[in-house]
Amino acid sequence: MARVVVVGSINMDMVVVTDTFPRLGETRFGKGFSTSPGGKGANQAVAAARLGAQVTMVGRVGADAFGEAMKATLAREGVDVQHVTTGREATGIAAITLTGGDNAIVVVPGANYELSPEDIDRAADAFEQADVVLAQLEVPYATVLHAARRARALNKPFFLNPAPAVALTQELLDLVTLLTPNQHELATALQTREEDWADELQKRPGQIAMTRGEEGVSYADANGQLVHKPGFSVDAVDTTGAGDTFNGALAAFWSLGIDTAVRRANAAAALSVTRAGAQGGMPTLAELDQFLDAQS
Ligand code: RIB
Repeated sequence: MARVVVVGSINMDMVVVTDTFPRLGETRFGKGFSTSPGGKGANQAVAAARLGAQVTMVGRVGADAFGEAMKATLAREGVDVQHVTTGREATGIAAITLTGGDNAIVVVPGANYELSPEDIDRAADAFEQADVVLAQLEVPYATVLHAARRARALNKPFFLNPAPAVALTQELLDLVTLLTPNQHELATALQTREEDWADELQKRPGQIAMTRGEEGVSYADANGQLVHKPGFSVDAVDTTGAGDTFNGALAAFWSLGIDTAVRRANAAAALSVTRAGAQGGMPTLAELDQFLDAQS
């Protein structure tokens, strides 16, 4: 069983379903509204836990009902929440507009932005026991950098899902074992042109797994040859959290090698979009195995 530490955000997702995205200045009627657990960090933690990993979450919520609910959800999923602390700000929220399976998201980070390097230091034991440390960019950059330094000092693989994307400093890049951007995030993170993605992957063999939605995932092997792992075709209900499922699964399966881990993570991400909510469709290990057996 892989031991995964997730350093990241915890949000309550507030989801509005519409037929079409509203234009600027327009008021439209929606078809439905729901709240559901989210946040890239929490989503990745739940994805890994459902697939059998032993997961510790390092994050912050507010002293409010959303914070209580989010912590309880994580605990119910088997995620260790002893390093989920309570901040002064409100629990983070994400306003999600969902239209025909596609989404547009505005995140208000709240307490997530109080997660500090000291919180990372307090989770020292979990870092020492980890097989993989996984982070995203919905918490302060300085905290992510601190987590990356600690992972390196302990010789632990550090995965960074650079979302929402910012230009990454060379120091952080040098500490990342595996970067998992989509094509746009790759260009922003590395400050390159989107069309140069293949060169960037080949310059960093095995260090970038670039997600391409339904098309799958690309990376360069140890010889610098591009490898493409196709995605799985499913009927999408809600794509929110598909990337998070991929990341959580990749961390959970990392010991199997990049080839197998990416294939299994692709399958987990495909299954995740077949149900509503960022975490709603994330598969268990048994569901994933059943799905993959049915493919062969
Ligand atoms: O990646 C999806 C997540 O992004 C949502 O759950 C939302 O909370 C935002 O963080």
